[in-house]
Amino acid sequence: MSLEPVFVRAAERIPPLEDDPDDFVGYEILVDFLEQRPLRKLEGDIIEIGAFMGRGTTRLAKLAQRYGKMVYVIDVFEPVLDQTLSRSGIKACDVYEAFLRGRSMFETYRESTRGFDNILTIREDSRKVRFGEEQRFVFGFIDGCHQQAYVENDFYIIWPHLVSGGVLGFHDYKFDEWPEVTEAVDKLIRAHKNEISEAYEIEGKYNILSLLLSKK
Ligand SMILES: C[S@@+](CC[C@H](N)C(=O)[O-])C[C@H]1O[C@@H](n2cnc3c(N)ncnc32)[C@H](O)[C@@H]1O
Repeated sequence: MSLEPVFVRAAERIPPLEDDPDDFVGYEILVDFLEQRPLRKLEGDIIEIGAFMGRGTTRLAKLAQRYGKMVYVIDVFEPVLDQTLSRSGIKACDVYEAFLRGRSMFETYRESTRGFDNILTIREDSRKVRFGEEQRFVFGFIDGCHQQAYVENDFYIIWPHLVSGGVLGFHDYKFDEWPEVTEAVDKLIRAHKNEISEAYEIEGKYNILSLLLSKK
């Protein structure tokens, strides 16, 4: 079976977005894609690994509200803990600090997500997080630490709990700066190809791709 991803160009799907400089993915594009699928009818919640300032979290939380679901968020919210080096030699923590411009990551996240009663925040290194057997997810989005071991770890936090017809996405797929994301994702696809029904490459902000996998 071939799992050649279907390419979805954002501009073909939705009108130009009002730009939010603190949204680094283009979450409206993801939400638009998810709304075309029957996720509402599936049983389970939404999970995001790597929320940063929480701008995308609020978009996922609005979607989850419409569907009567929760959003679980996993993030350490401590820039200095992520020392991952990009291909061009920049540390992830320095990228975070540059965008934060002196603000606290956690306080900024709390400010963004204030007023939502369907967000459950787990402030923890994702290697330390696992869910009980009964937990079900309909959508998971991985944009945490960009090291291969973390991307794989984060996949296994979600995948065993993803329901049939649910979707799991990875940000920064095929993005030159974070080659370990692509290596990890391609390895995971090979290992789980019999459990995947479709793959989509979604072009988001800055032309960066997210790869979304639909579970059989
Ligand atoms: C690229 S940012 C996420 C951006 C966010 N998705 C957005 O578009 O606004 C990566 C996030 O992963 C978090 N992170 C890095 N290493 C982590 C780890 N080991 N466990 C949990 N979160 C981690 C960072 O704190 C940061 O907020």
